[in-house]
Amino acid sequence: MSNDDKKNGISRRDLLGAASLTAAGIATSMMSPATASAEAKSHEPLAKFKFDLEAAKPRVAPGGTAKEANVEQFPISESMAGVSMRLNPGGLRELHWHALAAEWAFMLKGNVRATVIAPNGQAESADFSPGDVWYFPKGHGHALQCLGPEEAHFILVFDNGHFSEYGTFSITDWLALTPPHVLARNLNLPQAAFAPLPKEEIYIAQGKIPPAIPEEFRNGNTNTNQFPHKFRLGAMKPIRFPGGEERIVSQREFPIQTTMTGVVQDLNVGALREMHWHPNADEWQYYISGKARVTIFGAHGRAMTEEFSPGQVAFIKQGFGHYVEQVGSEPTRILVLFNHPVYEEISISTWLSANPPSMIADNFGFSKDQVAQLPKSPFGIVKGE
Ligand SMILES: [Fe+2]
Ligand SMILES: [Fe+2]
Repeated sequence: MSNDDKKNGISRRDLLGAASLTAAGIATSMMSPATASAEAKSHEPLAKFKFDLEAAKPRVAPGGTAKEANVEQFPISESMAGVSMRLNPGGLRELHWHALAAEWAFMLKGNVRATVIAPNGQAESADFSPGDVWYFPKGHGHALQCLGPEEAHFILVFDNGHFSEYGTFSITDWLALTPPHVLARNLNLPQAAFAPLPKEEIYIAQGKIPPAIPEEFRNGNTNTNQFPHKFRLGAMKPIRFPGGEERIVSQREFPIQTTMTGVVQDLNVGALREMHWHPNADEWQYYISGKARVTIFGAHGRAMTEEFSPGQVAFIKQGFGHYVEQVGSEPTRILVLFNHPVYEEISISTWLSANPPSMIADNFGFSKDQVAQLPKSPFGIVKGE
């Protein structure tokens, strides 16, 4: 394929298709609608973009559970993976790190205390409640413990779909593989002290509920971290639209969050999140409450619609057109992640308003009056009918 063909979007498959039609004596311009749709079907069908995360089989550990959606379970989600984690009161997601991904989290229920260490030796401990977000850069060591009195539930999103929460670097896994004489030299205890340690990764241990006032770190270091890992997204002032509102946290608001942008979107009953796309990022959605119907546009005559309920996940590829129709009698709340620290979108209303009227008229065959009625500014979220 020449560069010019690439620019014109003509694939080798298009050329072969056109050649075979010509050979059969059918001019491309004379294709019947049935032939045209057969041509459209010659492109790969769109990949499945829905996954039922909360219906997945959980990994059960002594102090809690986790359900996961990475490329193994949900092949389209190459750039982001999700985990729904629950910790019992006192449950401890043990000390660990992720070699391949940064971790972003949104608290749905309960209370969690997290500790995290950065490569410069600065550490931080913070408590998280519903609406709060944390971000741990790739490789930073961290641990989470549920403060009670109820179970904690949070959604984790990782900026790499090939990552697996079940395959992270956990402290008990490492210690179980290390000879006692090395542990004795490194950790300053007699070899016998390591005999009762777990023989494999414990993953989520069952501990005691930590004290309400955080203890000092063992090294007494009171230097606060220069880049806090906590952002109170739920407490942020929303951007309001006719049909709902959203709260957006990009790197601008949360400097440590260098690889992702998070959004909590609330759609009123009957609302429509308008037709748009994101030039710079894939979009990962988790339905917190309420229902919606999502339609994606994948070019070459391809579109796909799926309906989503609480606990289900959608994945929309970078640059794919899409819209979200709220359905059902309860408002809909969606957690949305992008794998880019800068938020970008282009909506159809913004685009059409930024073109000359005669060009829009020619493109659609609209009259001048019809063109005059098209929106002149973005809707964001359109009000219910
Ligand atoms: Fe983690
Ligand atoms: Fe979107």
